[in-house]
Amino acid sequence: MRDVSLLDIFKHHIAEKYLNRSGLAHAIAVAHHAFKLAKEQNQDVDIAAKAGLLHDIGHFTWYRNGKWDYDLYKKNDIHPIKGAERAHKLLIRLGENPIRAKTIALAILFHTDSFLPSNDIIRTHLQQIVKWADEKDEEEGGLHHYRKIEIERARESIIRLDGLIEKELEMKNESEIS
Ligand SMILES: [Fe+2]
Repeated sequence: MRDVSLLDIFKHHIAEKYLNRSGLAHAIAVAHHAFKLAKEQNQDVDIAAKAGLLHDIGHFTWYRNGKWDYDLYKKNDIHPIKGAERAHKLLIRLGENPIRAKTIALAILFHTDSFLPSNDIIRTHLQQIVKWADEKDEEEGGLHHYRKIEIERARESIIRLDGLIEKELEMKNESEIS
């Protein structure tokens, strides 16, 4: 049993606000990709999926005169830093194990180079998986942030992914015992 499920995160009002801001459909797709990659590459599927779900919750709304201003965003964005901090606070409040909360926060911090002066970070395998998962779902011009999903479908997809994670963790546990 995990301390915190994806559904616990999804139901929290802070997650609701920021997941919607940067695109709930994208967040869920990245969580699924991260799970799949972590499963294939023998990494922690729960941490990968949580980091995938929360990776973009640090976005700020860079609007000027009612329109999204990409230049302003490019120049001033620090969404991985804000996202890492926001996700960490949320996870700790929900009762996540602190070591896991830190690992998830760091994976969010390093999911992109876009906010850094150089792109020479050496990532852990898990951090790289979250970056790949995000890139798998990216669309030209940032359109992935605007894809819509019905709230009920989103919920079902989160519950389905929780089930897949539980099953994977159970299987791992069994193989470790035998
Ligand atoms: Fe993203």
